[in-house]
Parts: sequence; C-alpha cells; structure tokens
Amino acid sequence: MPRPKVLATRPLFPAAQKILNANCEVDYWTLPERISKEELFRRIQDKDGLVCLLTEKVNEELLAAAPKLRIAANVAVGYDNITVADCTKRRVVATNTPGVLDETTADFAWTLLMAVARRLGEGEALARSGEWKGWDLDQLVGADVWGKTIGLVGFGRIGRAVARRAAGFQMKVIYYDSVRVPLDVERGFHAEFRDLSALLHEADFVSVHVPLLPETAGLFNAKTFSQMKPTAFLINTSRGPVIDEEALVEALESKTIAGAALDVYEKEPVIHPGLKRPNVVLAPHIASASLETRTKMACMAAENVVALFKGQRPPNILNPEVLKAN
Ligand code: DGY
Repeated sequence: MPRPKVLATRPLFPAAQKILNANCEVDYWTLPERISKEELFRRIQDKDGLVCLLTEKVNEELLAAAPKLRIAANVAVGYDNITVADCTKRRVVATNTPGVLDETTADFAWTLLMAVARRLGEGEALARSGEWKGWDLDQLVGADVWGKTIGLVGFGRIGRAVARRAAGFQMKVIYYDSVRVPLDVERGFHAEFRDLSALLHEADFVSVHVPLLPETAGLFNAKTFSQMKPTAFLINTSRGPVIDEEALVEALESKTIAGAALDVYEKEPVIHPGLKRPNVVLAPHIASASLETRTKMACMAAENVVALFKGQRPPNILNPEVLKAN
C-alpha cells in the first residue's frame, strides 16, 4: 500500500522526523526562509497530511487547493491560524499541541515580568555599550517583584503554571477568567477570583493567558488600560491581537501604565514602532522555545498525523465530528 504523503513546512526535529518517516512519505520544507504561499499551495496538492506552523493559514482557500488532505497538524497549542469550521466542512482533521508547553511558557512569562520590572533590557544595553560609569545609587532603579500582586487574565493550564511560580516570590495571586474555577482549585493555587475591572485596579503585574477568540480580541484597550495602576506592568505571552497596540502605545506614552513586556504582536512579525521604548521588553514569540518543549510539540504533531493514518483517533483532535461523519 502506498504510504500517506505528508508536507511538513519545517524540517521539525529529529525525534519528530523519526515518527513521521517511519510511517509516511514526507516532503520537508528545508530552506531557511519560510515557505511561500505559492509553494505551499503547489506542494499541498497531492498531500494527505500537513504539519504546519502558526504562520500558515489553514482555511478554505488552502483546503480547496488540497483535495486529498485528511489532516492539518498544527505545531502549536494556539490554533487561530486554522479555521476549524472550514476543515470540518471538508472533513479534514485539525489538531494542536496542548499541555506540553505550559511550564516552558510560564517560565517565559516570568522571564518577561522580571525583565520589565527590573529594567533588564536597558541594563543589558548599558552594560554592552561601553558607556557604563559604574555603580550608582539611583541607576536603573526598577520595581520590586516579590510581595506584589500578580493578576492573571486567563486561568487555564498556563495561567495556573504562572500562579504556582508566584508563591516563590511571596506574591498575592488574583485571576480573572470567563468561568470561575471551583473553590478547591482556587485554594490549591492560593488564587482569588476577581472580575476583570477589579483585577486591573488591584494588580501590580497583569499577565495575559487567554486564547485568541472573538471575545478576547482587543480585550486590552483604552478602557481596560485606564483601569490599571500607573505603576502596573502588562505581560503578554498569549496572542498579540488580545491587545490593541495603538491603545497600549497611548497608555505607555501617557504613563497610564508603567511598562509592558511582550512576546506576541497584533501583526507579527511587524512590531508597532511606538512599542520600541525603554519601558517595554520585546521578545520575538519565543515563550515555548526551549529545545525540549519544541521537540515535544513537533513529536505531538507527528503522532497526531500518524495516528490518523493508522486508523486511530488523533489524540489532540479539535474537530472529532469529522471522524464520526466518516
Ligand atoms: C503556541 O503554541 O500557541 C505558541 O504560541 C507557540 O509557541
């Protein structure tokens, strides 16, 4: 029997290649530059499976060019690049990679939080510049982290992993989510529920952990920034469009908030020029980028593909109704 044909838009990692190569005929995109839309559409024509990144849009347009496609396996937990309803309509399975990146992403939210509070970006630039004149009493004084209040907007797996780390800094943890979690879970994380407005008024650090949905797009805007303390910092490792960047720039310029640390942007890879300021720490969407975690994510995507072609249910299927319909 011919082996299923799969397109992987990156070479992935050796462990993931091993899983795929043992079961499929794989066409890896190996050039350093990203696969172009034309090339993607050309190569997908005869493929049964796709392993894709969040920079590739899987929607009706792509699916129409892929008549044989049975699965699109995203190497990311967030899947706002995939229009799941379009996949379902065409009976294409969509999968993501939940669970394996929570701790690594939480580590990075803390990396950003501490970097912006303690002005690490500015300090590093000064240390490298040759202009540093030595220790000084009021040099690059930042804000304490320990003992403060962290407000988590979104209290799923990643938000909770961030909450656990707060205990080590003797911080008060408050959270907002569209659904309040059971009291025993709150107690387990030493976290207290607040509505969004109360959280914004109280938190010294606001860390965002919501998925990008119609309800969360633009959640941070002029109104929500006006509810934050002028000494507060905003940290975002979720998705860029959750923040209205124009409003964020205005909030920073007017000192409505003290600073921000961002890993994700509204129009990646474009970064609003107004965000390139000393009190903003900027990272290029790397919150899950440890070798261990990215390898696990790629393996998970590969396992989803292989499971489908072995006649099994892909473990991270987003549209199980496709299998029922078959
Ligand atoms: C995800 O998995 O959604 C991340 O943004 C990629 O690191």
